[in-house]
Amino acid sequence: MTGAERFLAACRGRPVDVVPVWLMRQAGRYLPEYRVLRRRHGFLEMCKTPELAVRATLQPVERLGVDAAILFSDILVLVEAMGVAVRFEAGSGPVLEARPKDMSDIRALKVPDPPRELGFTLAALRALRGELAAGAALIGFVGLPFTLASYIVEGGKSEDFAALRAFMADSPEAFAALMDRLAEAAAAYGAAQLEAGAQALQLFDTWAGILEQAQYESSVLPYTRRIAESLARRGAPIIHFCGDCRRLLPLLATLPVDVLSIDSRVGLDEAARLAGPKFALQGNLDPRTLLAGPGEFETAVAQVLRRGAAAAGHVFNLGHGVPPQTEPERVARLVELVHRSRPHA
Ligand code: CP3
Repeated sequence: MTGAERFLAACRGRPVDVVPVWLMRQAGRYLPEYRVLRRRHGFLEMCKTPELAVRATLQPVERLGVDAAILFSDILVLVEAMGVAVRFEAGSGPVLEARPKDMSDIRALKVPDPPRELGFTLAALRALRGELAAGAALIGFVGLPFTLASYIVEGGKSEDFAALRAFMADSPEAFAALMDRLAEAAAAYGAAQLEAGAQALQLFDTWAGILEQAQYESSVLPYTRRIAESLARRGAPIIHFCGDCRRLLPLLATLPVDVLSIDSRVGLDEAARLAGPKFALQGNLDPRTLLAGPGEFETAVAQVLRRGAAAAGHVFNLGHGVPPQTEPERVARLVELVHRSRPHA
């Protein structure tokens, strides 16, 4: 099987020759060839220049032989196109300038027309389909409304989400209007990526796990469902990623998605029990094991492979992104270990 065939089959719970593998943040600072590009170009400049985004996307595919390429971009590119200024600062992560608080601020957020305002992403995807040919699958992605709202309301990455929680509690109508607008924008952006050649889409809700079930169910899940329903109609596999997802798994299992991407805190066998039999599972290897001794690392990989066999399909991945301090040789070894293992019947 080609990497693309293997990845797409596993997403749909169909038989594979070996377990497919790709890694969140497989493009990035741990790769010397990425650091060379970054010395000459800003991060957002790379996201918005199709030739640079294509090169960064292909670097891990060429070096590691992963089964899928994820577009080099960022979830906040969409937020910027909605009219919120975004900067990436070395060390501190993204900084967002506007912090909409009331209805009039939220009404001022645009729903971008992807071909016109996010054409660089679509151009990069089209070029990548040509470059990847039948090799690796091409994954597009969007951030989900709750995680995008967290960056908008907090003005960046937060430790305690105090501003977001206060906004949800004090201005429920404005919060709902913000979620509604983000859902519309994310659904349109995801659909445009599928039209431009993405063969699967990953929906990122990195911070949804901070919520209790009831609040997630009433204030977040309906927007995710709307996006997933509109994208699922197009036939490509949809992957849902959420950090600290254990508590939310029974709710996530009501979504029309194919794959649930699992963080490092719940084993894939337990996740399979909580989500039920119809989902392929991805993820879970603790990114810190990439920095551990070789024995601990190989034991952890074997455990994820063993537990992943409990799911309808298994796509090997980490619980979150590759840490920037990782040795590229360790990641190459990971891909080799996964590709050497035999999948379950
Ligand atoms: O996974 C990939 O290789 C594809 C590219 C990708 C990036 N960001 C590149 C990136 C993807 C899928 C994302 C998604 C993203 N961006 C998420 C959801 C996934 C997750 O990590 O939870 C979030 C929350 C963001 C927002 C974001 N972007 C943060 C918080 C940061 C700072 C942290 C960091 O690692 O520096 C970024 C920057 C970012 N996004 C970098 C990369 C390669 C580092 C930029 C650099 O080179 O300086």
